[in-house]
Amino acid sequence: MEVITINQWPLSGFNDYRPDLEAGNIVFFPTTPFALSEVSKEFLRTLDFSGGAVHKNIAYRPVIDRVTGVDPKSVEMATLHDVFREYSRNLIQFARELLPEYAAAWKLDYASFRPLEERGRDLPVNKRNDLIHTDAFPSRPTQGDLILRVFTNIHPAASRVWITSDPFKTVAERYAQDAGLQSLAARSTSPAARLRDGFLRLLNRLHLPVFPRSPYDRFMLRFHDYLKRNEEFQSSTTKYRFEFPPGSTWLAFTDVLPHSVESGQYALEQTFIVARESLASRASTPVAILERLCGKPLVA
Ligand code: SIN
Ligand code: FE
Repeated sequence: MEVITINQWPLSGFNDYRPDLEAGNIVFFPTTPFALSEVSKEFLRTLDFSGGAVHKNIAYRPVIDRVTGVDPKSVEMATLHDVFREYSRNLIQFARELLPEYAAAWKLDYASFRPLEERGRDLPVNKRNDLIHTDAFPSRPTQGDLILRVFTNIHPAASRVWITSDPFKTVAERYAQDAGLQSLAARSTSPAARLRDGFLRLLNRLHLPVFPRSPYDRFMLRFHDYLKRNEEFQSSTTKYRFEFPPGSTWLAFTDVLPHSVESGQYALEQTFIVARESLASRASTPVAILERLCGKPLVA
C-alpha cells in the first residue's frame, strides 16, 4: 500500500482519487485542506474530561446537528456544538470538491473528536485501537457500501502514528475462511434466515430501532474481532508505519485498509458511507471479494 500526498489544495485541475482510495491507499494532505481555526482546536484540546465526562470519543451527527458522548453539565456545550458544526461543514465541503462522484451518493455518518492519548490505553480487546483491524460499525450496517474516514491531527506538536497492512483482498484471501466465512454465508442465505432478514428490514422501515445486518455486515463485524484476537495475524502481517504530523489530514477506506493507531492524541474525524454505485470499480470492494471467496451473495 502507499500514501498519495497532495501538497497543494485546491488542485490546479481535477484528479480522480477514487482508484487510489479503493485500492486501500491513503490520500494525505500535509497541511489542513479546509478552514479550522486555532481557537477551535485549542478549545477542543483544553476540554476537561476529568471525572469521566467523556466516553471513548465525542461524536457529532451532521445530519441532525447533534453532539453526543459527553456529559452536557461538564463542558461548554454551546461552544462545543459550534466548533463541531463548523468543522464538519468545512470538511464536508472540502471532501465534496475532492471526491464529487462519491459526494453525489454518500451518506453522512458521524464526526468524532478523539481526546485521549492512544498509546497505553487500557481497553477490552475488541475496542483496542492499537491492534490491526478493518472497520465495521455494529449500529450502522453498510449493506456492502464502504466506510470512508477523514482524519485531522490537531495536536500542537505530536504526530498521530498508524500501522497499516495490505488491503482487504490480501487479508481476506488468507483469513476469511478461518474466520468462518463459509458457514456464516451458508447459514445467512438459508430460507429461514432470509425470512428473518426481510422481517427486520420491514421493522427498520417502520422506524423501529433495529439494525438489519446483511450477511456481509455480520461477517465484517466478526472479521473485525477475529483480526484483533488473532495473534498470528497481528505479529506476522506485513506492516507499514506512517506518522501524520500536526495539522495534517488523511483519508482512507478503513474497511479496505487494515489499520491501527500506535500513538497520538487529539484527532478530528468525519465518516462517510460511500455507495457502491459511485465507486470507480465495484469488483475490488470487500463485499465483491467475499462473495467470490464463498460463492454466495452476501447483500440483498
Ligand atoms: C480506528 O479507526 O481504528 C481509529 C483510528 C484513529 O483514531 O486514528
Ligand atoms: Fe478502525
